[in-house]
Amino acid sequence: MATQIVSKVKNLKGEIIIPADKSVSHRAIMISSLAKGKSRITNFSSGADCWSTLNLFKNLGVEINVIDNKTIEVLSRAKFLKPNLPLDAGNSGTTMRLVSGILAGQDFNSILVGDESLSKRPMKRVIEPLSLMGAKIDSIEGHAPLKIIGSQLHGITYSSNLSSAQVKSCVLLAGVNERTFGKTTYIEPNKSRNHTELMLKYLGADIEIDGNKTTVSPSELTAKNIEIIGDISSAAFFIVAGLIVEGSDFIIRNVGINNTRTGILDIVQRMGGGIELLNQREIAGELIADIRVCYNDSLKSCKISGADIPKLIDELPVIAVLASQAEGETIVNDAGDLRNKEADRIACLVKELRKIGVDIEELNDGFIVRGKTSLKGGSALDAYHDHRLAMSFYIAGLICENEITINEFEWINISFPEFSYLVEMLKS
Ligand code: S3P
Repeated sequence: MATQIVSKVKNLKGEIIIPADKSVSHRAIMISSLAKGKSRITNFSSGADCWSTLNLFKNLGVEINVIDNKTIEVLSRAKFLKPNLPLDAGNSGTTMRLVSGILAGQDFNSILVGDESLSKRPMKRVIEPLSLMGAKIDSIEGHAPLKIIGSQLHGITYSSNLSSAQVKSCVLLAGVNERTFGKTTYIEPNKSRNHTELMLKYLGADIEIDGNKTTVSPSELTAKNIEIIGDISSAAFFIVAGLIVEGSDFIIRNVGINNTRTGILDIVQRMGGGIELLNQREIAGELIADIRVCYNDSLKSCKISGADIPKLIDELPVIAVLASQAEGETIVNDAGDLRNKEADRIACLVKELRKIGVDIEELNDGFIVRGKTSLKGGSALDAYHDHRLAMSFYIAGLICENEITINEFEWINISFPEFSYLVEMLKS
């Protein structure tokens, strides 16, 4: 168990390159495995979750060669082999939910398993639409292990009451399978991240995207090289650090700015914290930019709800830290699904941030933070096996009067093993 000590920092300066997007890295392996031919994936994530996906597809008989840690070649015949062992999604909800859509329409049976935390997370949200498509999936009261009986699927029109990219992607990946009959339409209340749609399109799928409604037909996909953009969810920790650590001014390079992910930038703007987007460009169908962030001592609170939520769902823990340095009440609503993440991110966040002096109140579907507070620190915080909680607490520690300790800090390896090293690079 790695304990991390974090002390107050003088300021943060210089520049860093943000590592690969986790969501896009997962999809690059999955969708290349569905395509025919050779894809070269560059700047692949070093996060453990993405390697769970990579190993899972190897176990489905896809030839995947790791050229170096960040360069992966996928040689696929768009046909999988029946696995001779349970397929392990590790800690990764994205892996389990998206892969269940791919496996449901195969001509063999399979079993999907996950670690203790993933086995507690709800899977009914994918079992339900897949069952309507003709899938047969046994679970333990809606939880993994999932026993998937390979079936002939048919297209559906599905209106989800959740704005979840994982559920949407699961259904679209089932619908694009060449064995599926007919078109599949997925409608979501608010637009969630659209990396699956963009990558399917990039590899030649027959897909129509019309706002919150996406229609896909069974398609033959053609392999292409994919360069992975930098992860805005990882950059978010640094955006917040730059805004709250006095005297900071630095550049974060290669950040994906797909507008289904830029909720953090909208919030910073609402709070009055200026950040600059430099050098905007496109790679593999995705927009990226360099971000300049500077300290701001006059941040104001704001309201975050509704259509904001899917655009910043993973950033809410670190947004709570940001809100502690903004004048007034920041209110987050409609984010109840935070309770179904790697930990209950509402209860755990509130409990731990209070220990260091954040004025935060728990709501059923979010939280209220009252700022601006000077954080005393001086406590040991629990990360609850949750990478994003661990890194959010670290950012708070950079402005605490007294040093803090974070238990089980090694969980950051799930998405962002380079995190502490990049913070060190910005310390003057
Ligand atoms: C993800 C979607 C989101 C997000 C998760 C990654 C994805 O989950 O929280 O970290 O890659 O599709 P939900 O779809 O459950 O909101």
